[in-house]
Amino acid sequence: MVEQHLATTGDPVDGVLAGLARACSRADRPAAGPAEPGTLAAVRVLDVGGGSGTRAVPLAVLGCSVTVVDASVNSLAILHRRAQDAGVADRVVGVQADADRLEAIAAPASIDLVLCHHLLEAVDDPAAVMGAVVRTVRPGGYVSILVAGRLGAVLGQTMAGRFEAARELLTGPDGRSGAADTLRRRFDVPGVRALVDSVGLQVESVSGVGVLVGLVSGVIRQAGPGGEADLAALEAAAGQHPELLHIAADLHVVARRPDGPA
Ligand SMILES: C[S@@+](CC[C@H](N)C(=O)[O-])C[C@H]1O[C@@H](n2cnc3c(N)ncnc32)[C@H](O)[C@@H]1O
Repeated sequence: MVEQHLATTGDPVDGVLAGLARACSRADRPAAGPAEPGTLAAVRVLDVGGGSGTRAVPLAVLGCSVTVVDASVNSLAILHRRAQDAGVADRVVGVQADADRLEAIAAPASIDLVLCHHLLEAVDDPAAVMGAVVRTVRPGGYVSILVAGRLGAVLGQTMAGRFEAARELLTGPDGRSGAADTLRRRFDVPGVRALVDSVGLQVESVSGVGVLVGLVSGVIRQAGPGGEADLAALEAAAGQHPELLHIAADLHVVARRPDGPA
């Protein structure tokens, strides 16, 4: 899959999530600096399509109470083991359910932070899932959305010499490359923003994950004058660059439910 070709240097998303969890924390805490393990108790997180818990478990380690909703029993079994290994099984609950049926899992307006990562590419109806997501989040709470980027995939296929697939990704309605494509759709920035806007969430930030690192071959990494640290610094800047981020492998949107009556 082309997204694997566009590997990233480091993953900025975990840091963003820790910052959001800290912002959601009702306790009086310092605004800056990394969150210490166990300090974010009482923050309620719902990870929709959370799979095996690669995001959920680190948040639980910080102290959050995390519910993972996923359609896959196998993924939830791995989640359970991962949470046990990290010593946070008491703060992680896995529920097998469909992403657009969240009302039985979380009361309306009860969640501080909802994650919806690499799910909207796979579901039948992304708007229905986002509608279900927004009903669970409390006023002032956050939603983190991570989706595969269409333009990053176009670049990846082009650099691999798969020009027909690149053209299909670029010109097709859903950012797919034929029936064998493992994803049902990919997003560009206007498309994901429109989806977020349509459910009444306010976009707080859009950033790119894997903007430039996938364009650098291993030979250049090893032989070039700049080290991995320089590349990581470049990638971090590119992920925040308002034009360049459009070609990222993944697009990360942080949105907020407006304050007001639930
Ligand atoms: C690509 S994985 C992403 C996992 C995790 N969010 C991450 O970013 O690492 C997609 C996950 O969504 C789940 N999934 C797909 N369709 C779903 C649906 N309609 N309802 C609930 N989960 C679903 C899959 O079982 C899978 O675990």
